[in-house]
Amino acid sequence: MQSITQIAYFSRSKKPIDLTEGAKLLNLAVERNRQLNVTGFLLHGGDWYFQVIEGVPSSVELLFKSIECDPRHMVASTWRKDGKIQRDFREWRMGVARAADLKLGIDRKLLEGDSPFEEKIKYVRSLAESYTR
Ligand SMILES: Cc1cc2nc3c(=O)[nH]c(=O)nc-3n(C[C@H](O)[C@H](O)[C@H](O)COP(=O)(O)O)c2cc1C
Repeated sequence: MQSITQIAYFSRSKKPIDLTEGAKLLNLAVERNRQLNVTGFLLHGGDWYFQVIEGVPSSVELLFKSIECDPRHMVASTWRKDGKIQRDFREWRMGVARAADLKLGIDRKLLEGDSPFEEKIKYVRSLAESYTR
């Protein structure tokens, strides 16, 4: 079995994405992620995004290239972990949560700052679970 790579990034949005555009983007993302067998989670606040994508290295790299070139945002920091045996977001083809909809406040410093990668992943996973259950 091929090992799993995770890439996470923090980015700033360049312009607000309205509901229609957001729905289109999400449909396309879910479809493409399915084709690439990529799972993950996307959090977004007023003017920022934090996303984790995971899958085999070639797929994650290909997808991240597209995301990174997307003019709707500007990637500020990225993190990468190779050689994982299991996915952390198996259940999410691309889960999405708006920070404003999460009842708990978001610890943005933990996402954006230089805390260990595992801590960020654990945190997003707990948010994902609390949001979708
Ligand atoms: C914050 C953000 C997250 C995105 N996440 C995904 C994603 O998970 N999967 C995906 O296929 N596209 C995602 N996109 C869209 C891609 O950036 C890109 O527009 C799309 O994959 C088409 O790629 P292409 O223009 O290289 O064909 C995202 C875009 C933004 C702004």
